[in-house]
Amino acid sequence: MITPKCRHFGPCGGCSLQHLEYGEQVEHRRSLVVALLEKEVEVVPMENPWNHRSKMEFTFGQEGGRVTLGLHQKGSYQRIVDIEQCEIAHPEVSRLLCAIREAAGRSALSSYNNRRHEGFWRYAVARVSRSTGELLLVLMTNEGPRAPLLAMAEELAAEVPALKSFYWGVTAKLSDVAQPDRLERLWGAETLEDSVGAVRYRFGPSNFLQPNHALVEKAYAAIRTGAGLTGQEAVYDLYCGIGLISLSLAGGAKTVCGVESEPENIDFAERNASLNGISNAEFICGRVEDLIKGRALFRGGPAPDVIVLDPPRVGLHKEVLLPLLEARAPRLIYMSCNPASLARDLKALTPAYRIESLKMFDFFPHTEHTEVLAVLTRS
Ligand SMILES: C[S@@+](CC[C@H](N)C(=O)[O-])C[C@H]1O[C@@H](n2cnc3c(N)ncnc32)[C@H](O)[C@@H]1O
Repeated sequence: MITPKCRHFGPCGGCSLQHLEYGEQVEHRRSLVVALLEKEVEVVPMENPWNHRSKMEFTFGQEGGRVTLGLHQKGSYQRIVDIEQCEIAHPEVSRLLCAIREAAGRSALSSYNNRRHEGFWRYAVARVSRSTGELLLVLMTNEGPRAPLLAMAEELAAEVPALKSFYWGVTAKLSDVAQPDRLERLWGAETLEDSVGAVRYRFGPSNFLQPNHALVEKAYAAIRTGAGLTGQEAVYDLYCGIGLISLSLAGGAKTVCGVESEPENIDFAERNASLNGISNAEFICGRVEDLIKGRALFRGGPAPDVIVLDPPRVGLHKEVLLPLLEARAPRLIYMSCNPASLARDLKALTPAYRIESLKMFDFFPHTEHTEVLAVLTRS
């Protein structure tokens, strides 16, 4: 047991394991993964497990007449821990957080109350480009006036020089999810630029990005090694987001085909391919379970040599498994943020496939979560 670094540890629902020394935490997460997978894993820890997150989602609250802004109190949908400094966020994000709270406090508007469904301020979602240190902010509110947002954009731009892009998101959803129904850029750049390995990319307010930049670089490098490319392979990158795995493999492959359900991510994947001068990558918008039916996805293109899978927490849709096995790709590379669904899917993929390596990338220090990469070869 150690003294947690963060002054908000305890009430804050963001980190649950800061009372353990980092090495002990890693061991705790490793043992959870080993228990689920019933196999040993190689661990790739963080060199510095602080200030590592490139995206933070904060919620507004209200205490009496005061606007608060931070993370949910452990186990509570109602109460918000008013955060001054978040030790897992980029330092500029903490600075921005304080400036937003002050600016919102100066307005005459109150925070949204998710029991009464009234009030204005709802969420502040901040993303950072690790290579430039620039910030993109989406300030989300209930339906209401535009003027306070314009005022806030101006105040924040003056107070936080790292802020380069400001979006206003409006959501009237009753559920507590930071997903805007409408999004409008009020100030600054449309997108920010970053890089991972040799790949440059642009991202906007709605794209999926892995939140741990330092380790994602190592994970993508491990995917490249696992793919064992010689320049002749057809690679399929299923659940490709804005195409970062596709683009980091394209140089070593003959062709790469990324599949992703969100049109906005596909748009950025195509733009990022052009940004890197990559012409052997194509991107298809649709749900993997629909496109892979009867192996249609692979019939429309070259037979797969390597298939990369990086699904959301639920893992592979049950209708993906059979066509995936029937495609008989020599290699599968499965990246997962949920060892429980990975364990279930690996059971279905073996014995047709043999597990060549299992690596745990410690993407989410101070929490119970982690990322696992499995490299499989055909038996
Ligand atoms: C864990 S992310 C992986 C993103 C990407 N591989 C990366 O490294 O940045 C999962 C992605 O799958 C997409 N997705 C979710 N369900 C899907 C489905 N049924 N078919 C295709 N894509 C899906 C999400 O929009 C998200 O971009």
